[in-house]
Amino acid sequence: MSSQRLFFALWPDAPARAALRTLANDVAARREGRAPREDNLHVTLAFLGDVNADRIARLEPIGATCASACAPFLLTLDALGGASRGIAWLAPRSVPPSLAALHAALTGALEREDFPVERRRYRPHVTLARQCTLPVRRHAVAPVAWRVERLSLVASRPSPQGPVYSDIATWPLCEAGGTTMPR
Ligand code: 2AM
Repeated sequence: MSSQRLFFALWPDAPARAALRTLANDVAARREGRAPREDNLHVTLAFLGDVNADRIARLEPIGATCASACAPFLLTLDALGGASRGIAWLAPRSVPPSLAALHAALTGALEREDFPVERRRYRPHVTLARQCTLPVRRHAVAPVAWRVERLSLVASRPSPQGPVYSDIATWPLCEAGGTTMPR
């Protein structure tokens, strides 16, 4: 049976994406790593892994319900840091309550539908660089912020140039009836 590698994500708006790209390129150059493609810069809410085709439709009401229960909010990313395996990330120093609530609603709904959910504490971030050979120390940076207005269900496909992400569904926060689910 066919499956797709899926995750729920928040996409930056165009100005935030441009700022993230600049920061990612700068960090990658300074720490000798590799920045993701600009189009791939995002915040993951829930990583699902490979989902069988017959289960994907179950994600539609989950995304719609969680998005409709969350008002748009400002997300400010202002802490740069590093993780194992040469990862550099940008994260909020303080997680907005709306983001924490959206994540909790999503993981709760996914769990009830028997989708796998992470047990680790949620640490929202944008991955700015991978394979950094130099350490990335944690420090505050000029904030990159955007108003989060949509929740997206994203498919990841491998390509020789790295993963290619595409929305398979997107829902406006706190508004009804805006669902798109292309076939
Ligand atoms: P990352 O940016 O910290 O690597 C698509 O792979 C997205 O899902 C990425 O944002 C990735 O986070 C996240 N993700 C979370 N858990 C993952 C896992 N086990 N494998 C791959 N990606 C994962």
